[in-house]
Amino acid sequence: MSQIRTRIAGTGMNVPERVVTNDDLAQRMDTSDEWITQRSGIKTRRHADHGTTPTDIALPAIERALEMAETKKEDIDCIIAATLSSQHYFPGTAFFVQRALGHNSIPAIDLRAQCSGFLYGLQVADSFIRAGTYKKILLVGIELHSHALEFADRGRDVAVLFGDGCGAAVLEPTTDGSGVLSVHLHSEGTHAERLWLQVPALGNDPCITHQDLEEGRQYPKMDGRFVFKHACTRLPEAIMEAMSTNELTLDDVNVFFFHQANLRINELVGKMMGIPAEKAPFNIDKYGNCSAASIPMLLDECVRDGRFKRGDLGVMAAFGSGFTWASAAVRF
Ligand code: COA
Repeated sequence: MSQIRTRIAGTGMNVPERVVTNDDLAQRMDTSDEWITQRSGIKTRRHADHGTTPTDIALPAIERALEMAETKKEDIDCIIAATLSSQHYFPGTAFFVQRALGHNSIPAIDLRAQCSGFLYGLQVADSFIRAGTYKKILLVGIELHSHALEFADRGRDVAVLFGDGCGAAVLEPTTDGSGVLSVHLHSEGTHAERLWLQVPALGNDPCITHQDLEEGRQYPKMDGRFVFKHACTRLPEAIMEAMSTNELTLDDVNVFFFHQANLRINELVGKMMGIPAEKAPFNIDKYGNCSAASIPMLLDECVRDGRFKRGDLGVMAAFGSGFTWASAAVRF
């Protein structure tokens, strides 16, 4: 019998309905369609309406993934939610998702590895499945960024880049040769403050002050050029790790699923590695950077429109706050 691997049985995605264009943002801060498009490739993103929660965004994506996997929600035996925009400080978002799905005893795990969160979650799920611990894992990347961005000149460098969305996957064991072939995870906490949200935080005492609020420390801050430089180094390293571990050539890989942080970064990395543009699909133009949701959203789009078929080989790669970076090779 061939070895047990983790198969992606179904995928789903969902984004809020409200489309926000670059021109819309230019009415709220000193920016322009030209600046945003040239620097990032983003044309629109989705923003959740007031009152929407991360769980609200996640549920339709989960329903679609369950449907594709022909799995009943009662059969899910573990939930992993990768997110950096947690529904509450505690408990984790995964518990709200669990409650909404009508479960009341299965484990629900929040995973905080920012833009690499889906791949960190894939590693955790893969270990559970190969060990026989759980048999139907729901892995979701959920982000609701727009309720915590600063839509003003001070926050413009970050606010224009991020969007809301969810991507979901149902994972189960298989022995048919498909599934997760490898995952590699990395981090470098030395650079934690280069892309972070500082308060409220228990690392501060008091955890938030009026001065923090006045100075905008409750909004994400990024050293854009520093992040850009590191992303352009770490992503190729991560991709090479996936390729060499599995002895793959570029021809073997059907689709490269890059984290959607910046089209310029992905084009540069693609060029450096000789990856043909048609093998590196993107949706950042429509949705912006949806952090942990970006890769599963792109995966779902490619599965549903036939760009990524059963039997195809995909390599996924991400870089983000932490810093974190990661890659995975998956036979679909
Ligand atoms: N609109 C217009 N101007 C803006 C702006 C905006 N939204 N945000 C910043 N600017 C200004 C800056 O203030 C600066 O002005 P100055 O030259 O007068 O000081 C100028 O544009 C250039 O800023 P800079 O930060 O040097 O631009 P850049 O070419 O590095 O592009 C990023 C900025 C953020 C697009 C780019 O650094 C980047 O993509 N970094 C990586 C981001 C990323 O991947 N993050 C997520 C990782 S998961």
